[in-house]
Amino acid sequence: MRLAGKKVLITGGSRGIGKCMIAELIQHGVKHFGVIARDKSNLKELRTTFEGVEFVLVRGDVADINVLREAASKVEDKWGSLDILINNAGIVSAGAIEDTSDEEIYDQVAVNLTAVLFLTKYCLPLLKASEEAYILNVSSGLGLIGMPFYAVYASTKAGIRQFSDSLRRELEPFPISVTCVYPTATDTDMMKTSTAQNMDSPEYVAERSIQGMIDKELHVIFGGEERLEDNVLNFESPEEFDKKIAGNYEAWKEATQNHKAL
Ligand SMILES: NC(=O)c1ccc[n+]([C@@H]2O[C@H](COP(=O)([O-])OP(=O)(O)OC[C@H]3O[C@@H](n4cnc5c(N)ncnc54)[C@H](OP(=O)(O)O)[C@@H]3O)[C@@H](O)[C@H]2O)c1
Repeated sequence: MRLAGKKVLITGGSRGIGKCMIAELIQHGVKHFGVIARDKSNLKELRTTFEGVEFVLVRGDVADINVLREAASKVEDKWGSLDILINNAGIVSAGAIEDTSDEEIYDQVAVNLTAVLFLTKYCLPLLKASEEAYILNVSSGLGLIGMPFYAVYASTKAGIRQFSDSLRRELEPFPISVTCVYPTATDTDMMKTSTAQNMDSPEYVAERSIQGMIDKELHVIFGGEERLEDNVLNFESPEEFDKKIAGNYEAWKEATQNHKAL
């Protein structure tokens, strides 16, 4: 198997899409994972859920730069190199920006964007020591289309898209591929306070994302044909897209007001 023996570091691998990515990678023969998350019991549970797999567990908040340094240094001590970095951990707090607390603005930027920049920076020397390395960044459909009441979250996820493009071009001389994935509503804890319907399963999102990474796809966009058409409309005729959103303004405001997963 192509990924057998690869060493992986993933943020937010203890639940949701990240945990399903671990399960998917195990199917591809991966047996060594570094995982960063805050909740100790969910982290420890990985060892019982996935027997016969080595886990290097880093308990901490990715918003804390020292946690990211510690994770990179644990990987270096343990494996000497890294083959796959998955920047997956994310949080959301929807609502009008003037109603969003300063702390929630800072936290979303720190977890969803700043942590990705720092962890990637710290891991690059380890990824460059790999014969064939992969970086998988988890953005969002909202990183392609900025929706109202998600101004902060959407900004962080657009940042991930732009970071992925820049980084890929910067790493051109190295055998490191960069894939950015854009899930739409996916049935995880993150969506418990959302009113979204017809969500993708985290298993499907993980399977499709990992396959995209293996195939070195640059962008994996979820949401089917309709979403692809929306992306084109939003880019080529933003005023037309504005009208489409304005028609559902109140419903959208109502639907997003309690959506929080921090
Ligand atoms: N679910 C969706 O509809 C959807 C749609 C588009 C994009 N996404 C993106 O997909 C990624 C995964 O989301 P998900 O739905 O799987 O979320 P989830 O079920 O809420 O899981 C989030 C994971 O990230 C970890 N995490 C959160 N904040 C952290 C922090 N400050 N420090 C360290 N770890 C942290 C969590 O563990 P702890 O809480 O223990 O720290 C958990 O393992 C996120 O980047 C999200 O923005 C999700």
